[in-house]
Amino acid sequence: APGDPILVAIDGPAGSGKSSVSRASADRLGFGILDTGAAYRALAWIALQAGVDLDTEAAVVQLMDAWAFSITMRGEQRVTVGLAGAEPIDATAAIREHSVSGQVSRVSKHPVVRERLNEMFRELVAASGLPGVVIEGRDITTVVAPDAPVRILMTASAEARASRRAGELEGLSHAQVLADIAARDAKDALVVDFFNPAPGVTLVDTSDLNFEQSVQTVIDIVEAVRLPA
Ligand code: DC
Repeated sequence: APGDPILVAIDGPAGSGKSSVSRASADRLGFGILDTGAAYRALAWIALQAGVDLDTEAAVVQLMDAWAFSITMRGEQRVTVGLAGAEPIDATAAIREHSVSGQVSRVSKHPVVRERLNEMFRELVAASGLPGVVIEGRDITTVVAPDAPVRILMTASAEARASRRAGELEGLSHAQVLADIAARDAKDALVVDFFNPAPGVTLVDTSDLNFEQSVQTVIDIVEAVRLPA
């Protein structure tokens, strides 16, 4: 509808540069950013806190009736989760912990959970009051916002992703990091095809691009749509 934010949908695997590139591109465009993975993480975290069985879809859906999730879409990311009237808790750091990362696929595998979160994402975008929103995840270009004017699948070879992550995870061998990425890809592959973009989706391979080049590539794609020649 008129006045709705311009949507930039970006999907991709862990380590493709998707999160940091999406954030920097949004900042430079004056847009907001919606990190959908953070919502999946927050849901897994609160389910663990509440002692809900993550593998039981009905239990997770019931929890979603009672949760209040909030995420900042400008500036530094802050995530809070409240349950049934209780004071919201800041979960920004907790949702990044390894103990949560390893459990998220147990909630993200449930179709009704995904539908509910997708509805929430659309509401967050519509209520943002921002001129544009970069929304990033795994199924944004295909399921959440298939009509977005800009849709990008950001990818990178497993090798490139492993080298980038190695810089972050000291003490792990290259082989361990590669194995970790392969395991996450296998889980994520249940939700998304990382290497074959859907029709109309632009593939951005960052294997041989540095951070700045990756950001510029996204901005160029957005500008080409905003300012048609
Ligand atoms: O991007 P991330 O690592 O923060 O994502 C966390 C988890 O959530 C990961 O297991 C994939 C899942 N996810 C998803 O299934 N769909 C999305 N749109 C975003 C994330």
